[in-house]
Amino acid sequence: MTGTPYQDDRGNKDVSITRPRTHPPPDALMESGPVTAAAKQPFLIGDRMTGGYGMGANIIHGCTVAVDQGQIAVIVGPNGAGKSTAMKAVFGMLNLREGAVRLDGEDITLLTPQDRVAKGMAFVPQTSNIFTSLTVEENLEMGAFLRRDDIGGTMAQVYDLFPILKDKRYQAAGELSGGQRQQVAVGRALMTQPKLLMLDEPTAGVSPIVMDELFDRIIEVARTGISILMVEQNARQALHIADKGYVLVQGRNAYTDTGQALLADPEVRRTFLGG
Ligand SMILES: Nc1ncnc2c1ncn2[C@@H]1O[C@H](COP(=O)(O)OP(=O)(O)O)[C@@H](O)[C@H]1O
Ligand SMILES: [Mg+2]
Repeated sequence: MTGTPYQDDRGNKDVSITRPRTHPPPDALMESGPVTAAAKQPFLIGDRMTGGYGMGANIIHGCTVAVDQGQIAVIVGPNGAGKSTAMKAVFGMLNLREGAVRLDGEDITLLTPQDRVAKGMAFVPQTSNIFTSLTVEENLEMGAFLRRDDIGGTMAQVYDLFPILKDKRYQAAGELSGGQRQQVAVGRALMTQPKLLMLDEPTAGVSPIVMDELFDRIIEVARTGISILMVEQNARQALHIADKGYVLVQGRNAYTDTGQALLADPEVRRTFLGG
């Protein structure tokens, strides 16, 4: 036992929230012989992305973020470093001047955000990520607006993951606590049955206990095979659960390594983790 359920049970993938998989997970590819180019390709990569807002100056400069299937990648860095901008670039909310975004080997650089949702991407933005005047359940239904099949099973899974949301299903989402609102936002994203869940500061404004809770739930989601790409202010705690960590500074990759390696790196500790 390593003390974290995440690391104790990485092989046990419960696929209940995911769609049927069309490809074997990367591990299976690695074990089956020589490593091919396809096997080394991450599930999602924003590859050397350069771009800014409108006609404005570039905010991100050759920035790369990636995540493998069922893994957790965490982006950290100072305020204004371009973390949210990098997320928007991956989701198609920013025109790239250079670089590409590939999902499962497919170049999706030119797709609209809505087309990316159809491809299995879900994004929970940093702000305005729920409909406050709608009930919890209506928020979840809104998340499934692109689906034409029965959403009852997925809703039950979301309520299993976040039981408090079931208790409050008929309450306006705006009446909930900060942590509960973030659960609504994550739940709404899961209603699309994503393969990749992108979260921009899911623990912003919540207490340390609620933060730990949310991280546990995020680990649970990753265990079902969903890839997580997440921006976090709580860098130390987030890197602890990260398979891969990216430190961004002024729109550029400053450090990239496993979460554990970044936590152990004296330079990263001193500069970004407060010693
Ligand atoms: N919608 C926008 N239009 C123009 N500039 C923006 C916009 N959003 C963010 N920026 C600028 O981009 C830079 C990076 O911001 P952001 O990506 O939000 O950083 P972070 O998420 O790391 O705090 C900042 O200088 C910010 O002022
Ligand atoms: Mg941000």
